[in-house]
Amino acid sequence: MTTQTTPGLSETPWSPRSWRDLPADQQPPWDDPAALDEAMAELSRWPPLVFAGEARDLTAALGDVCAGRGFLLHAGDCAESFDGVGADAIRDKLKVILQMAVVLTYGAGVKTVKVGRIAGQYAKPRSSPAESRDGVELPSFRGHMVNDIAFEAAARRPDPGRLLESYHHAAATLNLLRAFTKGGFADLRRIHAWNLEFAAASSEGARYEQVAAEIDRALRFMAACGIDLDREKSLHEVDLYTSHEALILGYEESLTRRDSLTGDWYDCSAHLLWIGERTRRLDGAHVEFLSGVRNPIGCKLGPAATAAEAVALCERLNPDREPGRLTLISRMGAGRVRDALAPILRGVAEAGHPVVWACDPMHANTFTHASGYKTRRLDDVMAELRGFFEVCRDTGTWPGGLHIELTGDDVTECLGGSEEVTDADLESRYETMCDPRLNALQSLDLAFEVAELLRS
Ligand code: PEP
Ligand code: CO
Repeated sequence: MTTQTTPGLSETPWSPRSWRDLPADQQPPWDDPAALDEAMAELSRWPPLVFAGEARDLTAALGDVCAGRGFLLHAGDCAESFDGVGADAIRDKLKVILQMAVVLTYGAGVKTVKVGRIAGQYAKPRSSPAESRDGVELPSFRGHMVNDIAFEAAARRPDPGRLLESYHHAAATLNLLRAFTKGGFADLRRIHAWNLEFAAASSEGARYEQVAAEIDRALRFMAACGIDLDREKSLHEVDLYTSHEALILGYEESLTRRDSLTGDWYDCSAHLLWIGERTRRLDGAHVEFLSGVRNPIGCKLGPAATAAEAVALCERLNPDREPGRLTLISRMGAGRVRDALAPILRGVAEAGHPVVWACDPMHANTFTHASGYKTRRLDDVMAELRGFFEVCRDTGTWPGGLHIELTGDDVTECLGGSEEVTDADLESRYETMCDPRLNALQSLDLAFEVAELLRS
């Protein structure tokens, strides 16, 4: 227990388990409390996945974004799969993120802070606790941290053992990411190798190659001027931070540790944790939990959010008004972003709260296609982004970041793009376990568009 108190709520002192006294939405109906306790006890004995100092570095980097000196690229899977920890899948996702970051940094001239929805994004909120098919009703799939996707009673039963499996999958993923980002793969001199094979022949691939060639030339120029590029660490290594929605609070509680240096609590399951649109109620368990850990945190804001709610979330989640601590992620929908977001931006600015404002142009633009597939149109995604940039300009707000769902695989889950995915293509490579993701080409398209928006 710490002496920290929870502003706005009774005198409850914050602790990693104080969330348990509050309503916790979207928690699995675990049916074996003893097995859950055992899994959590074991998890709490295992080493942290990330370190407090790394989380502080990310807060500092986001503090720069807050001040208009950087841009947050927050991207990755909607739901990571336990079957997706193969080296190739992780490498290809990283390639797309690195490519997008290059396009943004080179195209817009701002530092890009890279945060993956990766190494822990195994749990999903659901609109309904149950799913029916042909008269059979089973618990909904809640992500591999909780149950399995097969429509069978045994697969859908929440299994606390999956909390431990999540840890191992996150650890394996993170280990490879650390090797890739610090061990040479992310070296800017390898920039051409990040172009995925299937992308290289496309117009986006060619456009990327052009940027890569210009960067090559700039590097050769610097070397010719006598600058020792070998000694410039920032050219050879990349900081890629991890994040996921802090949804299953037992998992997060078990990985929360007190930092030996500062005495503060950190959720060591990832560098950044965010609160989803469905669990951001002020008096709820998720807000309580994240209010007490010192990681940088995020919170989604959908079209029903009000300025007063946003300000109250700022007070609750960032009472010390530390720049970089809080990222608010707007996900309003292409048609509503202008009207819905402007009053919120104004309200938070008037209250004097430092916030990184990011745009998730995906989650409010999802619809079910006539074929039955859940999908998104790239045109809507771009339209919401343009609306976001416009509202930011009108309110004098720095458009701080982009939050998207993507994969390095050549999937056909979202419609449109320069190499168009058509209605008829949807079924050919629709592989997501949850929401439709942008493929590598669509992600590159988007990065070029955002770089242009940032420049203007
Ligand atoms: C998500 O980011 O995958 C998600 C469920 O988003 P939201 O909470 O905004 O609906
Ligand atoms: Co999603």
